[in-house]
Amino acid sequence: MKKTLLLLLVLGPLTSCFLNNEKGPLYLTDKIKGSNELTTDSAVYELRRKIRLLEEKGLEWKEIQEEAQTSFKSIKNIVQKKCYDCHDSDTKLPFYGRLFRRINPINRHQEEGLEAFDFVSKFPLKSRGSENQLSLLNAFRNSVVDKTMPLKSYTLFYPFRKIKKKDQAALLEWIDPLIERLKGFEEKYSEIIIDPTPAGMAKRIFSEKCFRCHANGSSKGGFGEMQNLEALKISKFINLDKPTQSELYTISLSHEMPPNLKEALTEEELESMLLWIQN
Ligand code: HEC
Ligand code: HEC
Repeated sequence: MKKTLLLLLVLGPLTSCFLNNEKGPLYLTDKIKGSNELTTDSAVYELRRKIRLLEEKGLEWKEIQEEAQTSFKSIKNIVQKKCYDCHDSDTKLPFYGRLFRRINPINRHQEEGLEAFDFVSKFPLKSRGSENQLSLLNAFRNSVVDKTMPLKSYTLFYPFRKIKKKDQAALLEWIDPLIERLKGFEEKYSEIIIDPTPAGMAKRIFSEKCFRCHANGSSKGGFGEMQNLEALKISKFINLDKPTQSELYTISLSHEMPPNLKEALTEEELESMLLWIQN
């Protein structure tokens, strides 16, 4: 009984193949050919889809930039009064700020402030050092929420330039939707934005959390050029023999960097960093 069942099971499909003389064997090759065509077809389709997605991404990015520029006008008044002295390259310092430039703290504040970002050319969506605009927007938001800006040494002399409750509300009302929009954008196009290799993941983390201060011209504490991962890997900050002892890793693990705790690397991000060093 078992044997016949087995025979039937094996012969069944075979006989149906051969009985149908014309279509039997042909049917098989057809099927193979068909599946070949299917893979090339789907590859072409996939390529087209990616190209379309890339175009869409470009268009949407332009749209976001324009929207940001327009909505920025609603808070320009506030930041012009309270931030431009140090963050706008078109703002001329008063004469006492231009005296003895090298040792003048007012001049130094402007220089350092401009290095962090410049409203004229790099705002709202062009942060220094990083391609990752969310990084600067988040820093901006943090500075407003934590009231770390304008600098205390500045509001000591200009108390009326402190950020008031009403200013804070207006700034957040402007920046929060923009941050959400950008996050949505990143998620929507994640498959073409995210490079899942260890180096790609590391770069993504650095771009979000470190580049602003340590890459593409920014070099806080004398540490820059982080965007060059190959050079970074052979620098003194990476220990290839003992990855967990790399300064880049330990300094992030201890939350010493980034300076703002709100930006501290998550467990996952730390793991990704380690994986990149180990690779
Ligand atoms: C008196 C000068 C001065 C004024 C006014 C000022 N800033 Fe700054 N700002 C600085 C300096 C200097 C730095 C760089 C500080 C640093 O690297 O620690 C900076 C850095 C920043 C950063 C970057 C921080 C980071 O983590 O990358 C942000 C964001 C910022 N300021 C926002 C503002 C906002 C918003 C205002 C207005 C409400 C403002 N600042 C007003 C001097 C100023
Ligand atoms: C808001 C700016 C800012 C961000 C963001 C930031 N850093 Fe820093 N970093 C600094 C400053 C300022 C110093 C100098 C600190 C000092 O000398 O005490 C520094 C110093 C360092 C140094 C030490 C350099 C040396 O010569 O010893 C390392 C390493 C470093 N940062 C790594 C990182 C890493 C990794 C990240 C991201 C996970 C990061 N930093 C994010 C501002 C920043």
